[in-house]
Amino acid sequence: MDKVEQRAKDLLAKMTLAEKIGQTVQYGRCEEREHKLVAEGKIGSLLNVHGPKKINELQRLAVEETRLGIPLLIGDDVIHGFRTIFPIPLGEAASWDLEGMEKNARIAAEEAAAEGIRWTFAPMVDITRDPRWGRIAESTGEDVYLSSLAAAAKVRGFQSPNEDGYPTVAACVKHFAGYGWIEGGRDYDTTDMSERTLRETVLPPFEHGIRAGALSVMSAFSELNGVPASGSRYLLRDILKREWGFDGMVVSDWESIEELIYHGYAEDRKDSALKGLNAGVDMDMQSGVYLDHLEALIQDNPELLELLDDAVLRILQVKIRLGLFENPYVSEEAEDSLKGQAIPASHLAQARDSARKSIVLLQNNSGILPLDTGKHQKLALIGPLADDRHNSMGCWAWKGRDEDVVTVWDAFQSEIAPKAEVFFEPGSGILEELDDGVERAVKLAGQCDVAVVVVGESEAMTGEHYNVTSITLPPCQERLIQELKRQTDTPIVVVLMNGRPLATPWLHEHADAVVEAWHLGTATGLALVDVLTGAYNPSGRLPITIPRATGQIPMYYNRKNTGRPHLYEDYIDCDDDPLYPFGYGLSYTTFEYTDLQLERHQIGRDESAQVSVSITNTGSRVGEETAQLYIRDLVASSTRPVKELKGFRKVWLLPGESCTVHFTLGREELGLLDERLEFTVEPGKFHVWVGPHSEEGLQAELAVV
Ligand code: GLC
Repeated sequence: MDKVEQRAKDLLAKMTLAEKIGQTVQYGRCEEREHKLVAEGKIGSLLNVHGPKKINELQRLAVEETRLGIPLLIGDDVIHGFRTIFPIPLGEAASWDLEGMEKNARIAAEEAAAEGIRWTFAPMVDITRDPRWGRIAESTGEDVYLSSLAAAAKVRGFQSPNEDGYPTVAACVKHFAGYGWIEGGRDYDTTDMSERTLRETVLPPFEHGIRAGALSVMSAFSELNGVPASGSRYLLRDILKREWGFDGMVVSDWESIEELIYHGYAEDRKDSALKGLNAGVDMDMQSGVYLDHLEALIQDNPELLELLDDAVLRILQVKIRLGLFENPYVSEEAEDSLKGQAIPASHLAQARDSARKSIVLLQNNSGILPLDTGKHQKLALIGPLADDRHNSMGCWAWKGRDEDVVTVWDAFQSEIAPKAEVFFEPGSGILEELDDGVERAVKLAGQCDVAVVVVGESEAMTGEHYNVTSITLPPCQERLIQELKRQTDTPIVVVLMNGRPLATPWLHEHADAVVEAWHLGTATGLALVDVLTGAYNPSGRLPITIPRATGQIPMYYNRKNTGRPHLYEDYIDCDDDPLYPFGYGLSYTTFEYTDLQLERHQIGRDESAQVSVSITNTGSRVGEETAQLYIRDLVASSTRPVKELKGFRKVWLLPGESCTVHFTLGREELGLLDERLEFTVEPGKFHVWVGPHSEEGLQAELAVV
């Protein structure tokens, strides 16, 4: 038994039943009632409490007023930044920059911990293939390989050691499990999937986050295969705690234990408390059912005490691991200094770097980009999101301050003028037309050399429960661009600022350039100007397929071949292919792949093969390429996807420069779950590709014998 567990057990042995139950209670509001409960040792954790002074005041109640002085654990949704806001997770995933993701999480954790937050409800690791779902913005996209690596990177970042050697904040991989599979893209709806899908696609990012040391897991709102996740012994005890040996703690989602009643899975609040505890939910977020009913349940059924003890032990271990008993308080000088203080320059620099790496160049006809202030002397900046501080941060931007955000218009004025004349006209609202807005925008564009049009979604159109039935631009914005195209000959560069893939086939046909910018956070304008002017050569690659139409959903690259591939079109009213495929992104330079080599074309089931390919920058600018390795297992005991991402390498190359990148294909990459869902490597042929995205690459063949 390690020292932490021993210390937790010693403390547990001293606790009364009421004190034990108190540790399992979390509230997300903090008025007089909660203050009193804290002082009585009946609350173990709080969220949505802000400011060092307030947090210390509550902590003093727990540490100095209660019998055992067990400190509170203060949590918050630090999803993509705390004060400094980084790109939304879907945008950050487009960088394929795992180090950058870890850096962002570390900075977010430092900023949050400086204000007394020691637990974040992040990373969200739900795989999803449904852009109708608002929470796709919080995901890292459709692919299990990329999402698994991202999950681990963020856990490492959030839990990076502080100056005392403790994790800066506890991470919380969520929402366990299957939440991204909700029917119809409707948040909180039913999820139903095969055990194979659960094991192959949904669970790996969680397991990667846990193997990276995540101290907590959050159980989902949704039901999985007939059992709500927050009442599922199978998920929480059999898989998470027993099979994976997870020794951290499980917190429910907001009131999701009480919601077992509405699912039709619990009779009443008391029954929901029993089912939550039985399932393995250690802490009840906000519903109060543990506080209200565990004592009576345990008095009626003393065997339940063992489950309560396990839950409390887990909670105490997390608090001990965070060093909360040694350092329960936070310095209060931050309280005042942070109020007016600009965010640290180094944090803004990282936000700018992360944001520009997240930008995906989707289209650049006739090389209109990068903007050339020598030629393009007059630049029109148009669109409702070009000067919108709040919406530039995207969903879950929580403590991000509008005044810290650099909008595109800010950056046009500070970074481009006076090299060129810059002008701004919104032209339209986000959801409504502006009186004469289109006319003013058309007039301005007609007088300029290039029009940069920033359109997309407000933060309140993405994120939790902001689901849509149509993944298209709001009509007023599409009309703005159409009128610019119809009434002027000015080249149009469209910048999309959004929290989900948008099906914009018209833009694909008519815009001179299309840039996918997601919601980039505090450094939005700086990052976009870096990319639009070529100061930074765009290197983002799509972490999610962009469909042509909502009706194609679910659409993802690693689909099955089916028994009738291409016998008929998928739809009679739409092209089969996506608008832009997974892994896609352009650069201002070009790259050529040559000389794909397999060290061996035949290996045994426990052997591996080295794969190498040469990449040359055949263009005129330095640039970064993300070489992607895909495989296809041609025949297996279960049908396999037509492609699966199994590796990627990011390389910067000077014009004319070449390099060779290497991959290893072994058991980890070639294995699958057989018909008994046991991991194995089956003999047979594999196709291997290395290339710039999921629809292009040099191909080779590998045989496993
Ligand atoms: C929300 C979300 C969850 C979040 C929690 C606390 O409803 O589902 O992701 O961490 O409640 O705010």
